[in-house]
Order: sequence, then structure tokens, then C-alpha cells
Amino acid sequence: MIVTTKQLFDIAYGNYAVGAYNINNLEQTIGLFRGNLGKAESNDEPADSAKSAPFIIQISRGARSYTDKRYLEAMIRTSEEVFPEAIFAVHLDHGTEEACYDCIDSGFYSSVMIDASHEDFDENIAITRRVVDRAHEKGISVEAELGMLGGVEEDIVVSEEHACLTDPDQAKEFIERSGCDSLAVAIGTSHGAYKFKGSQGLHFDRIEAIQKLMPNYPFVMHGSSSVPKEWVDRINAAGGNMPSTSGVREGDYLPAAKLGVTKVNIDTDGRLVWCATYRESFRDKPADFDPRTPGKPFMANYANYIIHKNEMLGSGGQLENVRDALKGQTVAS
Ligand code: G3H
Ligand code: 13P
Ligand code: ZN
Repeated sequence: MIVTTKQLFDIAYGNYAVGAYNINNLEQTIGLFRGNLGKAESNDEPADSAKSAPFIIQISRGARSYTDKRYLEAMIRTSEEVFPEAIFAVHLDHGTEEACYDCIDSGFYSSVMIDASHEDFDENIAITRRVVDRAHEKGISVEAELGMLGGVEEDIVVSEEHACLTDPDQAKEFIERSGCDSLAVAIGTSHGAYKFKGSQGLHFDRIEAIQKLMPNYPFVMHGSSSVPKEWVDRINAAGGNMPSTSGVREGDYLPAAKLGVTKVNIDTDGRLVWCATYRESFRDKPADFDPRTPGKPFMANYANYIIHKNEMLGSGGQLENVRDALKGQTVAS
């Protein structure tokens, strides 16, 4: 069942974070739906309510153009039929103004992200306000971004010296003037597999200061992959060449959620699971050339990874509570 992002945020706020996972292809989509229902090996297993979670499925502009956005949308619609127990929202990740309008007009998306964070403050507000006005007419909510995360996203590379944390006073003014429904804040994370050197972590003092000014307002953490050593080691043991790296401490997700971080974006970790599984398959079965040979373990590995991630986010086991809370509310589709 597709619901609005706002419905998920209202239920989760302050208690746990909703995982927002990127998809690019069929195996990722199936692994994601299975994982969020606590079933790893097959679509036909019964859902495990102790592990089942509400989630956000998100599509970047790169994903929309990789094959054709219509394939992704059709896979999501089909997944809704194959996994009728699932409760989720559909979100555009890092949209331009044009991509946002395309998604708003399609009538399929629950929410869009307008990312004008590379513009100056007033221009970011002006662009976000235009998207908000158009989205709200259709009951779609809007995520915006203030502050600059380091790392690589879409076609933009932000060096560490240009990355800057979100200023709490500016965040308040930005939200009031733009009318955005949630805000991606820069609180020490960056996109991609190479986030932290040494023991850096989230800037909890900054999250606290932002929440103090904007209580009950949902914030979004981008660049939230934990880049598990286990998966990087597996990639390297199967012929990869990734330098040692570290991501967000998984133990930090819940404390951040209690401070209003309600959506946690994870893409890189799924890519690592994909890369390790496919490399291992090619290494271990060099004579095999069936796309299903790596695809099958990947779907299971990814589903198990999602189960683990949701446990760390606190969303694992919450699906039935969400279903109860939604009773009597209008849903998106
Ligand atoms: O934040 C960016 C996401 O990880 C999406 O990456 O643009 O390569 O699909 P992508
Ligand atoms: P990661 O690179 O940490 O997975 O972040 C993904 C993201 O922020 C998508 O918008
Ligand atoms: Zn992002």
C-alpha cells in the first residue's frame, strides 16, 4: 500500500527513523520489499511482523534515466501487488525543479526532493517555494536541502572544504519562507563510500540545536550508509579494490531519530551488498553465465541487509503499528 510520506513521518517522529532506500533495478526492488517484510529467501514466505517495517522507496534522477523511469514505476506498482502487506511511500531523490514537476504531474510519487542546496540561500528558498506551491496543490510533500554535504551525488561533487553544516537559525528561516515539509540537513555525513577519516561522526550538538528551534519538524539525513567493513572486505576478497573506509555508526541512527531525524537515506550500502555478491558469484562459479546465478543470492543478501538496517533504525517491527495508526486515514493509492 502506497501512503504519503507525511503519514509515515507523523507516526514515526521522535521514536524511530524511516529507512529511505534507492533502487535502480528489479533485484534491488524485490530484495527491498522482501527485507521490509522480514522475508529473505522468497516472495512467498510469510511476512515476519517482528521484523517488518514501513519504508520509503526512492528514485534518483540517475536511476530514472538509467533505463527508463517507467520501468521503475511499473516495478513498484507490481511490487505493491506481489507484496500486499507492504506499507511504503515513493519519493524522488535529489530532484531538479524540472524533475520535481515531472514527478508531481505524474500523480505517482508521494513526495519529491528539490535539491537547490548548491544555490545561494535566497535562490534555494525561491526555487523550493515554487516546487512546494505546485506539489501542495496535488497533496504531495516536499523535502528540501540546506547546507552542503560532502561527497558525490548525481553529477555534483562537493569537496570536504566546501561542505558546510546546516545553520539552525537559517534552517528555521528557510522552512518558514519556503514552506517545505521536511529538510535535509548537513550534520556531518557525506554521500558515497568514503565518508569519515578516523573517528569522526555525526554532529549531535548541531542536530540538537536545530531541533530546539524546530520541534516536531521532520529532518532528513542524507549520506547515512554505514559502509560495513564486512562488505568492503568481501568485495576486496573477491577481486575488488576499495580502500579502507568508514560510514555512519549504526548506533547513531536511533539517537538521531529521537532528535527529529525521521528519514534516513541509504544507497551506498545496498551497492556494496550488490557488488560483493556479484563478485563472489563470478569468482566462485567462473563457468556460469546465467544472470539468475548472482541475482538470486543478491536478493536474499539485500533483504537480510535491509532487515538488519531497519532494526538499527528502530523501524523494524513497526509495520503493524503503522497499519493500525493508518486505519481510517485516506491513503495515497
Ligand atoms: O544521493 C545520491 C544517491 O546515492 C543516488 O545516487 O544519483 O548515482 O543514483 P545516483
Ligand atoms: P549514502 O551514499 O550514504 O548511501 O547516501 C544516500 C543518499 O543520501 C541518497 O539521497
Ligand atoms: Zn542524498
